[in-house]
Amino acid sequence: MYKEDTDGQEMKHSQIRKKKLKVALITGGASGLGESTARLFLKHGAKVLIADVQDELGQSLRKELGTLDIITYIHCDVTCEMNVQNAVDLAVSRYGKLDIMFNNAGISGVGGLRAIDSDGDSFKKVLDVNVVGGFFGAKLAAQVIVPVRKGCILFTASVASLLCVSVAHAYTTSKHAIVGLAKSLSVELGEYGIRVNCISPHAVATPMLLNWLVTSEKRKIEEIVLRNGVLKGTILEAADIAQAALFLASDEAKYVSGVNLPVDGAYTVNNQTWKIGLMEAFIVE
Ligand SMILES: NC(=O)c1ccc[n+]([C@@H]2O[C@H](COP(=O)([O-])OP(=O)(O)OC[C@H]3O[C@@H](n4cnc5c(N)ncnc54)[C@H](O)[C@@H]3O)[C@@H](O)[C@H]2O)c1
Repeated sequence: MYKEDTDGQEMKHSQIRKKKLKVALITGGASGLGESTARLFLKHGAKVLIADVQDELGQSLRKELGTLDIITYIHCDVTCEMNVQNAVDLAVSRYGKLDIMFNNAGISGVGGLRAIDSDGDSFKKVLDVNVVGGFFGAKLAAQVIVPVRKGCILFTASVASLLCVSVAHAYTTSKHAIVGLAKSLSVELGEYGIRVNCISPHAVATPMLLNWLVTSEKRKIEEIVLRNGVLKGTILEAADIAQAALFLASDEAKYVSGVNLPVDGAYTVNNQTWKIGLMEAFIVE
């Protein structure tokens, strides 16, 4: 891959200036989108703290990715404020500061798609992890980034924050709530130069999705997503979400705040009912 530099000369991809990232805390970083983001941030020189509840997976990923001077794993259940506080404290004590708080941990929840098949406890559990966990992350990160007036907060929302897809009500509710929280924080923290944004991915074949759907075959799921997607000829991968996070966390996005960025190949701007029903009324033979 080549890219033209300003003098019109070709520059190898590997020579393109790496984005200057610093210290990042990624919740849900042991798997899926968080793991992919941890890998990419490290490649761009960041020091990364992975906070997750999957300790074995997190520790082995940590060992694979490098030594403690650049990558750390900490057990952290985001629903426990003290756990999140410990993670933030560790980032600061080990790496000197916190620049990027990526509130990415999430669950799909259990139970049916219909309200009458869902119970209050599982509904609350989804909100607890997906929303309250994100709130703790933002709040505790703000305590260290506001005084230095530098840093950014990211959330992983979902296309379910923008439209109704066939997922449980609790999940849709939680992802809408995250976007509301991010907007609200972007206004409050903008005063201190802190940017707050969301990323809303379409379906990516991560362990969450594989466990959720009728088939756990990665390739099959990718084919289904590809067939039903708007943007053809390419498959959405965890690395694509990591790239979105990299951009939003970088200085190149210095004036981007309060945004919910869909990484969905135009899925959420397409009204499927057009194809199913209304279009025939407009077709001229
Ligand atoms: N995969 C998709 O299709 C998709 C699409 C849109 C949004 N998302 C969102 O992306 C985020 C990451 O999901 P993923 O697809 O990578 O799934 P994943 O299951 O691979 O990763 C989620 C991680 O969050 C961790 N986690 C769960 N509960 C936790 C808790 N209480 N405290 C700390 N960590 C916890 C899990 O252990 C796991 O490592 C989630 O917020 C999810 O809702 C995923």
